[in-house]
Amino acid sequence: MWRLVIFSLFIFSKGLSARNPGIRLQITQKGIDIVNTVAADLVSNNVKTMKITTQTGSDINVNYELTNVKITRFQLGKSSISRYSGNSLRWTAEGMNLDIDGLFQYKYSRFFEKYLDKGSFTVNFSTMSFKIIIQLGTDSSGRPNLKASQCVPSSGPIKYVFHGGKDWIIKLFAEKAIRAIHLQIEKNFCGIFKGLVEKNAQSIISNVKVQIPVGNSMIVDYRLISSPSVSTNYLEVYLKGSVLWRYSQSEAPYSAPSFPYNYHTTKMAYVAVSDYVFNTMLYQAYRHNMVGMNITSTNIGFRRSMLNTTCSENCIGRLIPQIAKSFPNCSVELHMQSTQQPVTNIGSSVSVTAEWNISVYVRELDNSLHYLFRVSAVGVSKVTPRLNNGMIYGQLSKTEVQTNITDSVIGAIDEKALQFLEDDIMTPYLAPMVSALCKRGFPLPIMDNFQFVQPELKLKKNAILIETNLKYIPRSGKSTVLRFLSKEDI
Ligand SMILES: *[C@@H]1O[C@H](CO)[C@@H](O)[C@H](O)[C@H]1NC(C)=O
Ligand SMILES: *[C@@H]1O[C@H](CO)[C@@H](O)[C@H](O)[C@H]1NC(C)=O
Ligand SMILES: *[C@@H]1O[C@H](CO)[C@@H](O)[C@H](O)[C@H]1NC(C)=O
Ligand SMILES: *[C@@H]1O[C@H](CO)[C@@H](O)[C@H](O)[C@H]1NC(C)=O
Ligand SMILES: *[C@@H]1O[C@H](CO)[C@@H](O)[C@H](O)[C@H]1NC(C)=O
Ligand SMILES: *[C@@H]1O[C@H](CO)[C@@H](O)[C@H](O)[C@H]1NC(C)=O
Repeated sequence: MWRLVIFSLFIFSKGLSARNPGIRLQITQKGIDIVNTVAADLVSNNVKTMKITTQTGSDINVNYELTNVKITRFQLGKSSISRYSGNSLRWTAEGMNLDIDGLFQYKYSRFFEKYLDKGSFTVNFSTMSFKIIIQLGTDSSGRPNLKASQCVPSSGPIKYVFHGGKDWIIKLFAEKAIRAIHLQIEKNFCGIFKGLVEKNAQSIISNVKVQIPVGNSMIVDYRLISSPSVSTNYLEVYLKGSVLWRYSQSEAPYSAPSFPYNYHTTKMAYVAVSDYVFNTMLYQAYRHNMVGMNITSTNIGFRRSMLNTTCSENCIGRLIPQIAKSFPNCSVELHMQSTQQPVTNIGSSVSVTAEWNISVYVRELDNSLHYLFRVSAVGVSKVTPRLNNGMIYGQLSKTEVQTNITDSVIGAIDEKALQFLEDDIMTPYLAPMVSALCKRGFPLPIMDNFQFVQPELKLKKNAILIETNLKYIPRSGKSTVLRFLSKEDI
């Protein structure tokens, strides 16, 4: 029994990871360079607070102590981060120069010769360099994960001068004491690099919002579906990008189309958002009966009298005389049932197609419903996507509804009546709703610390491609880490 459960879980999780992702992030070398600039600044800041402990030691006949060791000058030559392997980066800091000064004293004693002297010293470490490998991965809850390994230091010439004391005694210990300081400095640097990767950078990428609410009842799942990968042109991250119903979290039963190929590298980042992302949202809306609706005199606002069967000017009754005659002083209702999941299509434009089965009734004075006829309707809305502050917004540019009348129990219905229902009842009712939905915006998976600079939005086959530069914004204080879903929560 258990074996069966474990086996099916295995199949299930394999099935999940085999799915195409909904979002692809590509960071170019230029984008990585931004991170490098930030990292280099942080190195310099961290070096300022580096502590070098007092060195004590002894050699034949001499005990020495080097105290008050301070960094007087630090120069970070060049820092760079680049591809190392398919899933790691190499961070190289080279041409670093570091000057220190400090105080020394020693006690020398050999037979009856005894000396106790003190003085100061300076040491210049030149062209130090470090290579660190940054391993990219994901943790079990689908969030990105960084590990620093293999800190390899190397160093150029080291020059030192001691002021005070006796040269021949200083020669006995100086080399050894400075080697110990050098080792400590290298160890401290490796600690700084490791800390910047595994603490600072990790905490920034942990802020990637992997579970963002969309409206009140849905969330978009931005977990990584695999470890980030590094190719010659890009650091690539694939996110799931599917929309889940907040309370049940079952996934849409289809997978994303593959992404359009991108070969541009002039911008810092390229974000591709598949139409799958929007389609999983529409799937959830459809599955949870958010697409069907009734248009009645109570919910259509100031247009309510257009649903009247009796009027002097402008109402459905004037276009369908049969109902004005049979049902005077009543009102008409449209019960719209979606017959298929609405679908987003991204190509040379973005369109959303929805299909309805609309049953038209008359609400009689005794409140009973009397069926009249049915309209099958296909609505296509064209939406112009826009980008603002990390959200994709849509602007409704055009809605076209095609209708057919079927199953009429009141005989033939004039084409004008149908046009009236489309133009004066349905479109004015639906368009603001669609507009409002589009205006709410769809959140993109971006980090708090990075802002898009002059993003451009392009339409590709089955995807929106955002090409953008990035700006780093240091943030202090409490982070806005969202809760990460564990794999079991799917
Ligand atoms: C080390 O560099 C400083 C300048 O930062 C200079 O004043 C000092 O003389 C140099 N020391 C040695 C030993 O070269
Ligand atoms: C529309 O009205 C019918 C009959 O009153 C009702 O069964 C149905 O649930 C309503 N649909 C919506 C979406 O409110
Ligand atoms: C529509 O009907 C309602 C009552 O059913 C009435 O109050 C209203 O005046 C009517 N509108 C027109 C334009 O006749
Ligand atoms: C419809 O309303 C008008 C005005 O309110 C009234 O004169 C007429 O008798 C009503 N017709 C029916 C069938 O109730
Ligand atoms: C349309 O709705 C009617 C009932 O209102 C139903 O009989 C019919 O099967 C529906 N058509 C589709 C395609 O769902
Ligand atoms: C309306 O009917 C025509 C012909 O029967 C058909 O070609 C068209 O697809 C139908 N349109 C809708 C919206 O059902």
